[in-house]
Amino acid sequence: MALARVHNFAISLDGYGTGEGQSADAHFGHAGDRLHQWMFATRWWDPGGSGGVDDAYVQRHDPGIGAEIMGAGKWGHPGWQDDPDWKGAWGPNPPFHTPVFVLTHHTRPPIEMEGGTTFHFLDASPAEALAAAREAADGKDVRIGGGPTTIREFLAAGLIDQLHVAIVPILLGRGVRLWDGLEGLEQDYRVEATSSPSGVTHVTFTRAGS
Ligand SMILES: NC(=O)c1ccc[n+]([C@@H]2O[C@H](COP(=O)([O-])OP(=O)(O)OC[C@H]3O[C@@H](n4cnc5c(N)ncnc54)[C@H](OP(=O)(O)O)[C@@H]3O)[C@@H](O)[C@H]2O)c1
Repeated sequence: MALARVHNFAISLDGYGTGEGQSADAHFGHAGDRLHQWMFATRWWDPGGSGGVDDAYVQRHDPGIGAEIMGAGKWGHPGWQDDPDWKGAWGPNPPFHTPVFVLTHHTRPPIEMEGGTTFHFLDASPAEALAAAREAADGKDVRIGGGPTTIREFLAAGLIDQLHVAIVPILLGRGVRLWDGLEGLEQDYRVEATSSPSGVTHVTFTRAGS
């Protein structure tokens, strides 16, 4: 069975996956780009970047992935639902290059972008969305791309096989938290951690057999 995988999901030390006050000009609210500066320093992001521990993790984002599921809050800032011309935050050639299923209560027809990305809009349970994404992924794995609300929902439903969280040594204090309501989650996984010289701790949760 194709796996459901989360990669490079960045959280602060106090567990926030995004900041407060998301808007068109601030996709991560008051967090700005502080959750992802470690990623911008990798060779994956910037050919002149580092090829160390952070890069080794981040490189696992794309191989073997045939579709992504994301939440409405990752696809657009609050209020995108009122903008019929909004096509996501990534420009005409988004970096997914696969079908992408956007979970939302405000569905619209699919949008085909350059480079193989098509956005599909689904009002569905996590299990139903995963079934649709698996079908579209043609035997490959499905990435659950965030944000924190959506990943939490899939974890709570027991649908994630592999979770990679990058714990960034900052304190955000407010925003949307990843772990709420997931007490005891670690009991279902093998949990490993690797510290990077950047200060980021990479924690992986791997379900037996995945
Ligand atoms: N830290 C990271 O690595 C990372 C990665 C990706 C994104 N982000 C950030 O995370 C933030 C977005 O996260 P978020 O937690 O606010 O929101 P989110 O998880 O992206 O989206 C949540 C929204 O998706 C819709 N939704 C979720 N499940 C649904 C279902 N089963 N059926 C129908 N609709 C459903 C609902 O929106 P509606 O009711 O409006 O339709 C819900 O409010 C952004 O700031 C983004 O930049 C961070």
